[in-house]
Amino acid sequence: MNEQVSVLIPEDQIARRVAELGQEITRSYSGREITILGLMKGSLVFMADLIRKVPLDLTVHLVRVTSQREQAAGRVLTEIVYSTAVPLEGRDVLLVADIVDTGITLSYLLAHIHEHAPATLRVCALVDKPEARKIDVHPDWTAFPVQEPLSDRFLVGYGLDWMERFRGLPFIGTIPRPQPR
Ligand code: IMP
Ligand code: MG
Repeated sequence: MNEQVSVLIPEDQIARRVAELGQEITRSYSGREITILGLMKGSLVFMADLIRKVPLDLTVHLVRVTSQREQAAGRVLTEIVYSTAVPLEGRDVLLVADIVDTGITLSYLLAHIHEHAPATLRVCALVDKPEARKIDVHPDWTAFPVQEPLSDRFLVGYGLDWMERFRGLPFIGTIPRPQPR
């Protein structure tokens, strides 16, 4: 099953980086309670590791978004398909995302969360592919920014999927870019 996957970021490197991010986030929110919102399903593994490196009071919630890209019409339909009932008003909200690619998913979600009037809203992403950006959004923390030529590879593992496969790999790997997306 995993024959065509090559390792890009090995398990121990992910663990070190997640621990570092945990420390930065802990310093940044020191003394406050964080409302963590995990973007399903890609951030599942990342979030599970990250929250164990943040020894602060926190609550964990999930949100799921779907995007349908209609290439011909150049139209993107994004909608929230699932969200745990969580009061965000006045909270320090940290959105944990898997990959920021075009930025369409993230910007849609940020606009939606803003409507609920959080006190602060910040984003921690596992992977950022800044060169693919169509909407200008920037995560506050990124575990792994990837630049050309890596930004052109399709990433799987550590929660990331291709057609729902590969989420359970303990490392981040790449497969040949599927056509078309
Ligand atoms: P965006 O709206 O283009 O920023 O897309 C973000 C979403 O696309 C992420 O939440 C991922 O689920 C998915 N995605 C983008 N690039 C990859 C990749 O290389 N591997 C797996 N999923 C990806
Ligand atoms: Mg996916």
